[in-house]
Amino acid sequence: MTRQKIIPPYDGSFNVKTDLDKHKVFNWDNVKKYFSWHKTGKVNMAFECVDRHVAAGFGEKVALHYISENSESTLTYRELKEATDRWATILKKHGVKKGDFLFVFLPKHPECHIAILAAIKLGAVVGPLFEAFMEEAIRDRISDCEGKYLITNEEYLQRVPLQDLPSLETIFLTDEQITTNHAISIPKELTQTEIDENVIEWVDLEDGLNIHYTSGSTGKPKGIIHAHRAMIQQYTTGRWVLDLKEDDVYWCTAHPGWVTGCVYGIFAPLLNRATIVLHGGRFNADSWYETIEKTGVTVWYSAPTAFRMLMAEGVETLKRYNVSSLRHILSVGEPLNPEIIYWSVGHLNLRIHDTWWMTETGAQLIVNLPTEPIKPGSMGKPLPTIETAILDDDGNPLPVGEVGHLAIKGPWPSIMKEVWRNEKKYQSYFPFGPNWYLSGDLALKDEEGYIFFQGRSDDMINSSGERIGPFEVESKLIEHPAVAEAGVVGKPDFIRGEIVKAFIVLKKGYTSTPELLANIRLFVRNRLAAHAAPREIEVIEELPKTKISGKILRRELKAREIEKLKAVEV
Ligand code: PRX
Repeated sequence: MTRQKIIPPYDGSFNVKTDLDKHKVFNWDNVKKYFSWHKTGKVNMAFECVDRHVAAGFGEKVALHYISENSESTLTYRELKEATDRWATILKKHGVKKGDFLFVFLPKHPECHIAILAAIKLGAVVGPLFEAFMEEAIRDRISDCEGKYLITNEEYLQRVPLQDLPSLETIFLTDEQITTNHAISIPKELTQTEIDENVIEWVDLEDGLNIHYTSGSTGKPKGIIHAHRAMIQQYTTGRWVLDLKEDDVYWCTAHPGWVTGCVYGIFAPLLNRATIVLHGGRFNADSWYETIEKTGVTVWYSAPTAFRMLMAEGVETLKRYNVSSLRHILSVGEPLNPEIIYWSVGHLNLRIHDTWWMTETGAQLIVNLPTEPIKPGSMGKPLPTIETAILDDDGNPLPVGEVGHLAIKGPWPSIMKEVWRNEKKYQSYFPFGPNWYLSGDLALKDEEGYIFFQGRSDDMINSSGERIGPFEVESKLIEHPAVAEAGVVGKPDFIRGEIVKAFIVLKKGYTSTPELLANIRLFVRNRLAAHAAPREIEVIEELPKTKISGKILRRELKAREIEKLKAVEV
């Protein structure tokens, strides 16, 4: 562990301190009192996110501020309640009910948020899909849980392989004019339907809320289902870690198809009654800084790759904008290099607070609280009430400074409810009994309890904070007519943390040409998703394999790659 400069907290009043001072002994029961179901017994995440604030007199507060290259609009909490009631009425009219799987495949746009919240109002289990997903990624997800409903638009529908998805009963489209047979145009229905203002379906805290598919090192992505009870921790982390207060304008840059974009892009800020900024479109340094300036972002949650891209743009770009509204910055998804924090302190006069969590954990667990010193290079410390340990291969705690498996003592309020139809996978997170959840990450703790990420214990790839399973990419690669075998690894990359690198063996009769490799890359990109397509492909004679089972030794491929990089550095 290298010694880094410690950055002390700023002066100020922070929610976490106020709350912990108030409750000398904190426990999750203190938080439950905040929710309306504590008194009424009626549970629904969407009600707590939206309707409750309207009932409490905050209807005219801006809930969503949408900004894109060519349009800008706002929705108040009252308007968001009305819109979600309207959409839910239509969904209900067409059969959507509690427990149904409903997928949302839309760009970053208020309609995506409305669709997700409307489905939740009916107690459906909502599956947000990343906007860049292609056929295979969509097929894998909807078919795995036999999704019944899909909300999308006609443009995106082109990427949905309807012929392979017999479980889909109804397609809802956000376009006014539609050409798709048997689909339902939501805007058209809105003009013809009487709105039910009491459309909300009350559920149990343990009922399914959302499903996010995540990649591991083996097999297809697995469906992680969360329950409505997750709101307890999502609200608390929004309050303590994001430090959201009444006047905050908050921007989480992730698409709701990723767990961060759903939990911290929708649930946590709305539970805290913040104003959410929603930026439509892709990354672009100018438009990002402009978004902060125009909407007056105060709290900003993004990822190391985005920060590295902003750094690479140079400070000249930053200086063209007034971003002085910012008061609190956070990061998630991949290791946050100390350089990024120093850059931010130097140019924005603000620390960046790293946070660690996973799709499976449902909310942040290891964090840099605004009240604590930051040790650059560390992910921070466990959230108050959360216990972590670094375990050896047999489940024994390791001493300070030693690298081992990062484990969390369960349960905590937002832990996943189940892995859809895969109890074996669920159990695999608890190899040492139900007490300890194993993250699959390797880490070490220092003498003050700060946790330092050291890599993964499996072959999962993390590129730009997006989790990619090598098996999925390998499976797609070998569907290409020229590819006999493939091994896929994460290659260290300055901007993206890791990039997807594929080693392939060509079938007899094929020779490696730049055109062929470009074609193979496109093959994966067009079928799976852009982020999963190998950025580098290397043709080799033979893949390294284990002697007994003949499994591809990805570790060896990765080690070769790291050696090559070292040789270049020397
Ligand atoms: O390896 C860790 C990495 O991302 C994984 C979880 O990925 P996902 O389920 O897609 O969720 C991402 C955002 C919640 C973890 O197992 N990861 C997450 N946060 C950090 C991180 N790696 C290093 N530092 C972090 N702060």
